[in-house]
Amino acid sequence: MTMQPAPAHPRIPLAGVIGSPIAHSRSPALHGFWLRRHGIAGHYVPLDIAAGDLAAALKMLPKIGFVGCNVTIPHKENVLALADIVTDRAALIGAANTLIFRKDGKLHADNTDGIGFINNLRQNAPHWVASAGPAAVFGAGGAARAIVSALLEAGAPEVRLANRTRTRAETLRTDFGTRVTVVDWTQAAAMVEGAATVVNTTSLGMTGKSEFKVPLDRLSPRALVTDIVYTPLETPFLRAARDMGCTTVDGLGMLLHQAVPGFERWFGVRPAVDDETRAAVLSA
Ligand code: ATR
Repeated sequence: MTMQPAPAHPRIPLAGVIGSPIAHSRSPALHGFWLRRHGIAGHYVPLDIAAGDLAAALKMLPKIGFVGCNVTIPHKENVLALADIVTDRAALIGAANTLIFRKDGKLHADNTDGIGFINNLRQNAPHWVASAGPAAVFGAGGAARAIVSALLEAGAPEVRLANRTRTRAETLRTDFGTRVTVVDWTQAAAMVEGAATVVNTTSLGMTGKSEFKVPLDRLSPRALVTDIVYTPLETPFLRAARDMGCTTVDGLGMLLHQAVPGFERWFGVRPAVDDETRAAVLSA
């Protein structure tokens, strides 16, 4: 990307989320709430960009006042090839969700999903420690890559992984190392036994999608159980875990916490994730 001359007068900072479709994204409500809370003259907008227009959009946005953006489906992987600087964690995960348009014209790409995952658990289950025992993760898609990487970095001694398409789980094992063990989807019920952390990263249980059917009867009541699905807030998976006496944490907090580093970089204030923030996003 080439260097742009500085504008003659200061501009109102703009940010947004690039995806397609994008109308249902909660990010504009979240960042809009933080902008109002902090009295910042800035805007955060949904940007519906088709796959073939990504490169052109990323060239144009900084010229018209954008300081950065979030990236979602279908651009999270493709954006890496267009970035000038890719953080180690984004490269390892193979996807970016947070872009910064730097003043020197360089495009910086990061992935904050893992931070969002960990900080959500730290906030809502303060006694949880990743090193307490093995983690069991359902799913091996983009979200799972960020979560497995974060669990390993946080000290999980083992990450058991089951996915409907087994080869995707095996790819994660190749990429993340021998602390990852692959469990066949048909044996997924067994992998929660003795697990300290249990995570659903599949879309199962989401309103309008198929049910999560893996039995959880081998779950220890000492396990921390969390879901990335947040519609509904308490998924049948979380409900079943709560009925077994487990501490559960819903997935909305991951969305809120993954947004913190981007907002801070773009607008210069580190926003808090609290009950009012949750309420603002839920009522949008
Ligand atoms: P994301 O980036 O949100 O993780 P994704 O890459 O499409 O989205 O991954 C979706 C995950 O949900 C995958 O683990 C997927 O399993 P497959 O790899 O076998 O597709 C899982 N998933 C979706 N529908 C499923 C279903 N009906 N049964 C089991 N797993 C399902």
